[in-house]
Amino acid sequence: MKRSLISLVAVAMVLLGCASGERKDKEGDVKQARFDSEVRHLVAQMTPEEKVGQMTQITLEQFGTSGPDGRFVLDEQKLRDGIVGHHLGSILNCGGQARTVQNWQEIITKMQDLATKETRLHIPIIYGLDTIHGANYVLGATLFPHNIAMGATGNAALMEKAGEIAALETRAAGIPWNFGPVLDLARQPMWPRVFETFGEDPYLASEMGAAFIHGQQGKDLSSPVKVATCMKHYLGYCFPWSGADRTPAYIPDRQLREWFLKPYQAAVKAGTVTCMANSSEINGIPVHASKFYLTDLLRGELGFKGLVVSDWADIENLYTREMVAKDRREAVKIAVLAGIDMSMVPNDYSFYDTLLQLVRDGEVPMKRIDEAVSNILQVKYMLGLFKSPYPRKDLAGTVGAESSRQVNLQAAQEAMTLLKNEGNLLPLARGRKVLVTGPTANKLSVLNGGWSTTWQGDQEQLYPQDKDTILEAVQKKLGKENVTHVEGVAFDKEIDIAKAVAAAAQVDAIIACIGEPPYCETPGNINDLTMTEPQLKLVQELAGTGKPVILVLVEGRPRVIRTIVDDAKAILMAYLPGLEGGPAIADVLFGDANPSGKLPLTYPKYPAGFMTYDHKPSEEKGGNKYDPQWPFGYGLSYTTFEYRALRVDASEMTPKDKLVITVEITNTGTRPGRETVQLYLSDMVASVTPPVKVLKRFQKIELKPKEMKTVRFELAWDDLAFIGRDNKPVVEPGEFKVEVGKMSVRFTARAARK
Ligand code: BGC
Repeated sequence: MKRSLISLVAVAMVLLGCASGERKDKEGDVKQARFDSEVRHLVAQMTPEEKVGQMTQITLEQFGTSGPDGRFVLDEQKLRDGIVGHHLGSILNCGGQARTVQNWQEIITKMQDLATKETRLHIPIIYGLDTIHGANYVLGATLFPHNIAMGATGNAALMEKAGEIAALETRAAGIPWNFGPVLDLARQPMWPRVFETFGEDPYLASEMGAAFIHGQQGKDLSSPVKVATCMKHYLGYCFPWSGADRTPAYIPDRQLREWFLKPYQAAVKAGTVTCMANSSEINGIPVHASKFYLTDLLRGELGFKGLVVSDWADIENLYTREMVAKDRREAVKIAVLAGIDMSMVPNDYSFYDTLLQLVRDGEVPMKRIDEAVSNILQVKYMLGLFKSPYPRKDLAGTVGAESSRQVNLQAAQEAMTLLKNEGNLLPLARGRKVLVTGPTANKLSVLNGGWSTTWQGDQEQLYPQDKDTILEAVQKKLGKENVTHVEGVAFDKEIDIAKAVAAAAQVDAIIACIGEPPYCETPGNINDLTMTEPQLKLVQELAGTGKPVILVLVEGRPRVIRTIVDDAKAILMAYLPGLEGGPAIADVLFGDANPSGKLPLTYPKYPAGFMTYDHKPSEEKGGNKYDPQWPFGYGLSYTTFEYRALRVDASEMTPKDKLVITVEITNTGTRPGRETVQLYLSDMVASVTPPVKVLKRFQKIELKPKEMKTVRFELAWDDLAFIGRDNKPVVEPGEFKVEVGKMSVRFTARAARK
């Protein structure tokens, strides 16, 4: 109690401090000019070795080992060789597993001591790591639902708040740079990184990504509670043809701009200061080797001014995997000239040595090196690292604050997406007996997935044991004596299905928790999107008992469950809901929270022929069907919402106009509830086949029973644009349809008033 009170006060103080530190734009401009001159001044004094060192990023594992107590112990000699001997600009990662905030503070302090006291120019290190769903490499941190679940909340303000807390807890450890947000799109459901995305829709990802960036960076990056963000993985990483991680994508320019580029455009606008390149290739061109993607498009067109870091070993990969370079020398040259400023090498000084030689031989011009180093130093200045390179001891107590836990619980509750509820089986009344079964019922690791205390997230013993699994949370609702637990199956093998079936006879309802084990990146590749056989069998056999089955899906991507959908009376999609996932699921099952999540992706019915909601008309005409298990944007509630009076304020729109759309929504049920109001737009006829509809706006509202709210949206001319035949955005005059709920209205776009 005492700890949480202190933490609460500390969080409030730092957040307040940050609000008062907000700067006006003009002041920002002045500051920028000062950074520019400081950067220029510093670069002018640097030797080629110092410059190339700044461009080098090495992983923490190279500088020590984990002790038996889980503390990371630095090898001072190796660290000195890196920071002083090789002028390192950056170090990354966690050395294998999450560390205590005190351990982190010691690590960073030692690094900054060396960098700022023992190097010639006293340039601080910029430490970076993956704060993917909270500060997942800081023990005791608030682990939020993964992005896919945050997309389901439809609540950008909540995303911003979560981003703010994750920044605070990362910075408390002394780490000022987060490799996030992931702005890839979930348009290939096999891909093992779907859970890191905000879903399939570019607009949803843009809004959530921008909110995350605002939360993490605030208005002033030098605030001690903010971190630099890194939009990734630019560009097209998420659309592998085969579904396997780090394999080729084939993306026509139009789709690239219509879908994949948009969240990055929004992130640049939101002020992200760093960018990580796509590990893989688009149309045969590895992004790390592409001046077009990394410089012309990113800087020239999107106006990005920050630092571009490679992904893990991806310069090496240009000659070992992608085969576009004959050796390391060629790979380094190609990548640096294409626009990579910093190499996540990450294990040795090969990049440093090779680039230095290339510079000496005149093959990489000093101008390009200076540009890269300036981009790096600028971020260090913006973060205030030259003035305050050290962790702030007083922030240590802010990690895992009670107020942060509450935001986390709200996020997990708002993510819960109710997909089926036959005969209003849910919420379950108290005073009943239930069987809880399945491989995701009694583990914290499965609720958190990859990027949780370790890269793969599968070390159950590293999770805080005071947190509740689904089983434990259900036991708290009903009393242990009313809850039977039988595991039934593991993900890939049967354990005791017969025992589960026998236990079912003694209970009123069955809560079957199925889904996926924790995974991340390539180890998460699958050959079949279908839910594993043993899990399907468990549900089928339990349904055979006649007792109502409630299916809880704990999964990072939409595993196909067509053959058991009819067997379940209720289905709750929980995604990877984080450390408050157990309580949030139980709250929804027993009606202490009303589900309000909406699917941020199309849930496929079959393990092939995937379609997204914004498909083309031909895909559902002439015998073709758009037939997902559940569509994008779908999600039920325990109350009912009536949509009425959808209006546009004008029947015509010209380039100068703003179109105002209003709709009235009433809670016609008996419980308070939240609803994400979604506005879709359809271009009725266009010179490039138009999608059937596109999400243009969303807003989450809260309504008490009988309460009515009018929701107002505005559309500008640019919102009507699509990527035209010349691959540039265009608005073609003509008829458009606005759809909200089941209603629609039409208006006409005209180039000028008649
Ligand atoms: C991942 C990145 C991550 C990096 C550093 C890579 O394998 O693709 O998303 O930021 O590792 O951990």
